[in-house]
Amino acid sequence: MNPATPPPPPSSDAALRDRAVAAAVAQGLVSAADPVAGLLDVTGIRRSAAELRAAFAEFTAPGTPVLHAFAVKAASLVPVLRLLAREGLGCEVASPGELALARAAGVPPARTVLDSPAKTPAELREALALGIAVNADSFGELDRLDALTASAPTSSPLGLRVNPQLGGGSIDAMSTATDTSKFGVALRDEDARERVVQAFLDRPWLTRLHAHVGSQGMPLELMADGVRVLYELAEEINEKAARAQVGTLDIGGGLPVNFASDAVSPAYRDYTRLLHRTVPGLFDGRYGLVTEFGRSLLAKHGLVLARVEYTKSAGGRRVAVTHAGAQIATRTVFAPEAWPVRVAAYDAQGRPKTGDAVAQDVAGPCCFAGDLVARARPLPPLEPGDHVALLDTGAYYFSTHFAYNSLPRPGVHGYAPGPDGGVRWATVRAAQRVAELVAESGGAYGDALTQL
Ligand SMILES: Cc1ncc(COP(=O)(O)O)c(C=O)c1O
Repeated sequence: MNPATPPPPPSSDAALRDRAVAAAVAQGLVSAADPVAGLLDVTGIRRSAAELRAAFAEFTAPGTPVLHAFAVKAASLVPVLRLLAREGLGCEVASPGELALARAAGVPPARTVLDSPAKTPAELREALALGIAVNADSFGELDRLDALTASAPTSSPLGLRVNPQLGGGSIDAMSTATDTSKFGVALRDEDARERVVQAFLDRPWLTRLHAHVGSQGMPLELMADGVRVLYELAEEINEKAARAQVGTLDIGGGLPVNFASDAVSPAYRDYTRLLHRTVPGLFDGRYGLVTEFGRSLLAKHGLVLARVEYTKSAGGRRVAVTHAGAQIATRTVFAPEAWPVRVAAYDAQGRPKTGDAVAQDVAGPCCFAGDLVARARPLPPLEPGDHVALLDTGAYYFSTHFAYNSLPRPGVHGYAPGPDGGVRWATVRAAQRVAELVAESGGAYGDALTQL
C-alpha cells in the first residue's frame, strides 16, 4: 500500500462561506442589477481533489496508473476544469461541447475519457484522431469502432461500458444499473455476457471495461458490487484470452453527497475502504484504474446566492420571492424530494440572519407556481433586500441551466481566503447579458418567418 498523506481536515469552511457571502454583497457580485450568482470555494475544491487522490493512493499498489477524470457535466466551466487539472485530475466528457471545454482547459488527451450513449461517427472520429479514451456504450458502437479503427489507426484506449443490472438507488433518474437502463451492455440479459467476452476476443484492441452504476442516491455497497462485477468480467475475459487483454477498469463516479449538513459523508476513503474489502484484486496493480467523480468533488464547495426581491403572505404562508429558481436549481424545483437543498438566510449586507425561525416558502423568479426551492422552510423572517444562499450547490447547479422565461445564466465567482480575514475573487463565468440572450434566441433571424 502506498503511504498516503492524509489531507488537512476541513477547516472552517462555513465561516469562510459566510465571509464570502458578505464580501460578494459588499463588492456587488450580487446586487440589484445582478441579483443571483454562483460562488465556488477554491480551497475546498482543492481539498476534495487531494482527498480523492489520497483515498485511492492508500490502497493501490505502487506504480498503478490511476486517472481521476472529473465528470465535466457536474461543472462545465473551463476554469474549474483547469483548477482540477492542476490538482492532477483529468476529464470525463460526454459530448463534443464537453470535450471542447476540456481541451480549452488544457486537459491532455491522455487524461480525457469520452462516454456517452449517443456518439455520432464524427464524434468517434474526432476522439480517435485525438487519442482520447473512448468507452463504447453498445455492441452497435463497437461495430462503428471496427470500421473506424480499420480505416485509421488510433492511440485511443478503447473500452466497453457494461450495466451490471444490480438495481437502482433512491433516485430513479440517477440509477443506471437497473434492468432496463439505457446505458451500457445489459450484462445479465440472455447471452449478453458471452457476447461481451466474445467481443473482446474478436477485438484485440479492446482493453478497458467501464461501469457507472449511478449517481446521487446509490448505496455504497451497490456501487462496490458494480465494481466487483466489472472486475470479475475482466478476469474472465483475460483468462479466456490467455493474456491481460483488459488492462484498465473504469469504475465511474457516483459517490453520493450529504445535502443535509456541512459534514462530508461519505468520504472518498469510506468508498475505497469498502472497495478494497469487496474487490481486493482491483488494487493489486494488475489493472490501471479510471474514476469519474463529479458531484462529490464540488457540491459542498459551491452555493447559489440570490437577493430577496419581495416578501408576501399567501393563505397564511410567508413567501420570499428571490432570484434563485428553476433556471439554476432546476432539479430541486422539479424533483424537490430527490434534490432538497439547505437554504441559509443572510441580511442585506450579507451577514447571517438571526431571529426566530418561521415557515417560509423560498420562491424563484420563474412564472410557474411550482418554482420553489424550499417549502415551509423554517428560516429567520426574510425581508426584501435580504439574501438567501442555496448550499451544497457547487456541482450540477452551474451546468444545468434551464432557459425558461429567458432568464440569463448567472455569473459564477471563485473565492479563496485573502489577507486580513478578507476574500480573494476570480470570475469563473460572467453573467449572461440580455443582448446574448437575444442573440441565442434567433435575434439574427428576426425576419426569417415573416418572409416565408
Ligand atoms: C458515465 C458517468 N460518469 C460519471 C458521472 C458522474 O457522476 P457523479 O457526479 O455522481 O459522481 C456520471 C453522471 O451522470 C456519468 O453518467
